[in-house]
Amino acid sequence: MLELFLFLLLTLVQATVIGPPFDGAEQCPGYNAININEQDSSLTADLVLANDACDLYGSDLPHLKLLVEYQTDNRLHVMIYDADEEVYQVPESVLPRPSSQSTNPDDFALRFDYQPEPFSFRVLRGDEVLFDTTGTNIVFETQYLNLRTWLPDNPNLYGLGEHSDSLRLPTTNYTRTLWSRDAYGIPPNSNLYGNHPIYVDHRGAAGSHGVFFLNSNGMDIKLDKTDDGKQYLEYNTIGGVFDFYFLAGPTPKDVSKQYSEVVGLPAMQSYWTFGFHQCRYGYQDAYEVAEVIYNYSHAHIPLETMWTDIDYMDSRRVFTLDPLRFPLEKVTELVKYLHKHNQHYIVMVDPAISDSDNGAFNRGRERSVFMYRDDNTLYQGAVWPGVTVYPDWFNPDTQAYWNNEFERFFNKKDGVDIDGLWIDMNEAANFCAWPCKDPARYSLENNLPPLPPPVRSPPRPLPGFPRNFQPIHGYLAKSSSELGTRDTKGQKAGLSGRDLISPQYQIANAAGSLSNKTIDTDLVHAGKGYVEYDTHNLYGTMMSSACREAMLQRRPEVRPLVITRSTFAGAGAHVGHWLGDNRSEWDKYRISIAQMLQFASIFQIPMVGSDVCGFGGNTTEELCARWATLGAFYPFYRNHNELGSVPQEFYRWPSVASAARKIIDIRYRLLDYLYTAFHRQTISGEPFLQPLFYVYPADAQTSDNDAQFFYGDAILISPVLDQGQPSVNAYFPNDIFYDWHTGKTIYGKGKTITLTGIAMTEIPIHIRGGFVLPLRSQSAQTTAELRRRGFEIVVAPNADGYAKGQLYLDDGESLHPASSSTVEFEYSHGKLDIHGEFGYHAEQVMIESVTVLGQSKGPVRRRDDILFDAERETVSKQVNVPLTGPMVISF
Ligand code: NOJ
Repeated sequence: MLELFLFLLLTLVQATVIGPPFDGAEQCPGYNAININEQDSSLTADLVLANDACDLYGSDLPHLKLLVEYQTDNRLHVMIYDADEEVYQVPESVLPRPSSQSTNPDDFALRFDYQPEPFSFRVLRGDEVLFDTTGTNIVFETQYLNLRTWLPDNPNLYGLGEHSDSLRLPTTNYTRTLWSRDAYGIPPNSNLYGNHPIYVDHRGAAGSHGVFFLNSNGMDIKLDKTDDGKQYLEYNTIGGVFDFYFLAGPTPKDVSKQYSEVVGLPAMQSYWTFGFHQCRYGYQDAYEVAEVIYNYSHAHIPLETMWTDIDYMDSRRVFTLDPLRFPLEKVTELVKYLHKHNQHYIVMVDPAISDSDNGAFNRGRERSVFMYRDDNTLYQGAVWPGVTVYPDWFNPDTQAYWNNEFERFFNKKDGVDIDGLWIDMNEAANFCAWPCKDPARYSLENNLPPLPPPVRSPPRPLPGFPRNFQPIHGYLAKSSSELGTRDTKGQKAGLSGRDLISPQYQIANAAGSLSNKTIDTDLVHAGKGYVEYDTHNLYGTMMSSACREAMLQRRPEVRPLVITRSTFAGAGAHVGHWLGDNRSEWDKYRISIAQMLQFASIFQIPMVGSDVCGFGGNTTEELCARWATLGAFYPFYRNHNELGSVPQEFYRWPSVASAARKIIDIRYRLLDYLYTAFHRQTISGEPFLQPLFYVYPADAQTSDNDAQFFYGDAILISPVLDQGQPSVNAYFPNDIFYDWHTGKTIYGKGKTITLTGIAMTEIPIHIRGGFVLPLRSQSAQTTAELRRRGFEIVVAPNADGYAKGQLYLDDGESLHPASSSTVEFEYSHGKLDIHGEFGYHAEQVMIESVTVLGQSKGPVRRRDDILFDAERETVSKQVNVPLTGPMVISF
């Protein structure tokens, strides 16, 4: 009795003085597993609410189902979903589910283990517990799901993007919110444009694994420690179901490959897309664009592709040309000029269609392919052109509408004959919910910069903002302050009665409430009736695949290049990504490495890069020079900046021009190395760009290094990181490296070395021993010209005198190339063995020479065909043989 009294007293004291012993989800009853059916490679059960509902942020669902599938030897699928199967799940049309391969249970690398009452589970690899919900209760409510896993202390976790934080995530008091938003300035600790709920948990020598949470609802993923110091990761999501894919690793590379089996292999890109791209927001007219093209050529800086931002549009309306600044005949002339010189042209398309555009808008309205409100009025927002409507990608007619707009506007005969596409604002961004009644927060004048005056075209009245916008169909929108009380009965999918505008659990969206700066989350999509609340995070990816499809309709045989701002898991199968609106600042330059690695190595979107020299604000000569050299190692290499910022084309400063010339020379000589490794990723998922821990997983010192990276397996890049510093502290794992610039050998000892004397025009590049690099013998002004160059094969032997490498060749652009070559190089002690498949003969591919690094002496007897360079410590042999079949080259 006394004990009971003391217990009650203690509980009361805890509750009143130090708060309840548990907060939030831990008060909930959890579920009991019944009707358990265990098979060799699957398990199913019913989960019933174990006690009274806690109704934390909605109503607890009383009946759930559990499905566990051993899908492959290395992949375990665990799903907890509502028994009635009414709750929204990510549509298969957006992300097809991977198929299971029946295998032998003895080969399963992972093991599912559970407690039935209350239900909790663990995932193990051998004895290593990878995921563990023991002692916590799953919460599954109408608008809130909570699940917590315990982790070892101080874990190495990566992924959970899109973010601009360190590659190795902070693990205390840290929240990763996933909710697409127009994130100008890419602030740290904030939700950005895209959503990738996968993490890699790297446990050093104990191995790595991945956990993919397939859920597109808004969520906060919290990383923290309990008061008694236990590390956890916790999912807090406002809808959907628990749908987990556990990837066994055990190496980080394996995890990436296994992830590609779930979300799809990335799309292969054309050879030319790896050339250098120039863009900016604010080119005033076609003449200025032409001037930039001319200036690049005059400065002898190879320009592969010229881009135009929304400036080309008539009052910023998509699928229109500004008749004075970018008249069709001038744009056509420009494109013809570029094509004649083997260069390319790309323009931007935004999703939002101006309601004052009689063409695209009327055609879309006739087909009803835009987003509508419950009362059948068009949903209106405001983006660059003013009042806009938004395509509904779920509408089965939207693709045909989109194809038709592309066909009309981008046709080869009398349209803008683009080579690739840039899609923006597809989170979807919305400056305000029309009619933008809250001027303090939403003012068109604040959001819409006036069009720049034309410099050479005859002056004309500028449209100016705000215009006299008229709402369509007499629709009277509510002001933003009324949004919270909006009727949400119209929803067709998911659970009825949900508050789709202001759910009780509020994710830490940096834009505020869910619908802020985007389209309203209570909108119902056509077709299956999904609501925007559930599918918001898919908008950018759905636009991406629609654009890829529309580009394929135009040119069915060639690989379409589409670069998007917003992405969801699996987007890499359709598109590439640029990292949005960074600033011309040193920390943004530095963090671009971690951002790029997230996408290329973990999220399987390898066509990725940041705005080189920075987007917002004014760059400086030094920053732009350094960024020109770092950007040359982004797969997607584009200089872009903002309206009103100082011009930053590489030719603007002699030092930047010189840096660009030197580094593009190196990038282009390495282009086939990049192309080969990129292609390998598109067929195997093996990541091309890698953080150091991917290459040296057992070396604990690599786990938080996001200042250096591997460009392919063989090249270590160690950029200078700080302003005014001609030096960088670079970590060299225990391996042999060769300095690209001097040829000198560095014996890495698992230590940091200070590299000094790095001029503004240079970047430290080291070749890792054990690899053969197929380099073009000379660079060129365009990639078309580059493809006609021969090869210099560079051999970087490891400590055993051995090296290997690969070269993939095809026509560089076909979706399904008629022929290709995959050539293998194997070097051992003076002999280079070349073998493999030699199907591609369309161009005369020559091996001109072979160079072996790390040679302190030349041949014993002088030979005319062999050159010894004592300074660079190399031995070279001129060979000049066509690469049409196997051969052995001896020294
Ligand atoms: C936002 C994009 O992120 C930026 O790159 C672009 O220049 C502007 N929109 C204008 O289109």
